[in-house]
Amino acid sequence: MSNKRPNKETTVRIPETLRRVKNIIGVFSAKGGVGKSEISLNLALSLAKEGYKVGLLDADIHGPSQPVLFEASKEIIDVKDKLLLSPLEKRGVKFISMGLIARDQKPVMWRGPMVSGAVMQLMAQTDWQELDYLIIDTPPGTGDAQLTLLQRLPLNAAIIVTTPQDVSISDTKKGIEMIKRLELPILGLIENMSFFKPEKSNKKYYIFGKGGGKSLSKEYEMELLSEIPLLEKKEFLILYDLETYKKVFDSLAKKVVKNMEAIKKTVTQVIPQKKG
Ligand SMILES: Nc1ncnc2c1ncn2[C@@H]1O[C@H](COP(=O)(O)OP(=O)(O)OP(=O)(O)O)[C@@H](O)[C@H]1O
Ligand SMILES: [Mg+2]
Repeated sequence: MSNKRPNKETTVRIPETLRRVKNIIGVFSAKGGVGKSEISLNLALSLAKEGYKVGLLDADIHGPSQPVLFEASKEIIDVKDKLLLSPLEKRGVKFISMGLIARDQKPVMWRGPMVSGAVMQLMAQTDWQELDYLIIDTPPGTGDAQLTLLQRLPLNAAIIVTTPQDVSISDTKKGIEMIKRLELPILGLIENMSFFKPEKSNKKYYIFGKGGGKSLSKEYEMELLSEIPLLEKKEFLILYDLETYKKVFDSLAKKVVKNMEAIKKTVTQVIPQKKG
């Protein structure tokens, strides 16, 4: 398999449903369980709160966790006889996930091993209408399936998520190298689960180690967008509803908007638009 992104002129056709989507951002990590889904969701909520038109695509076909995080696990989208799926609209975010589609209604292709094909289909068949930002929550990994998926998605930029542990940092390096080979602009790095701060104390406990994200951001010359604290979850909740986390994600969203604008100025046309 070629390391380079395929020649977009000939291979990436923008589906009709994405023509009015201005920015497509993939939230990516090499290692699983570092918080991609949590971050995608809360970033989307913050952007929507700011007044942007926002979509959230759960690209984790085999283990969609987004419906649970977004408190939508009981929601089902009817797909029967429909060419276009209407995304669920929740808190100002248009949301689609394989987890919202009833088991018996999943087309054969969506149950198959070709993850990228199924994600592309889910993305292209959703009636997004006009969006300022489409956030894509990607599945973990740096293997072939992940590479193919990233090559096929018409992404404008990626955000990379890591946790402070050495193992996560070293996996993240592999992930960054992969994204670089794809020539996909990187908006920045997020370190999740950076520290734990008890509610009534100002002391921060660096449970998984300190400074991993910072040194990685220096090494690869990319902005460290956020250091997100670890929350002791007592019950199920959306992080954005907590004042501390709202601040963290609002600050992240501002940086994402700023960096995306900057990238757009340097890359005149990331995706050549082509009819077909
Ligand atoms: N800052 C945090 N504080 C507390 N819990 C967190 C934090 N970030 C994520 N989590 C929790 O950790 C678990 C893993 O997070 P999440 O599902 O977002 O990771 P992921 O990278 O998407 O995982 P996967 O690779 O399996 O898709 C979830 O239960 C999530 O709610
Ligand atoms: Mg996930």
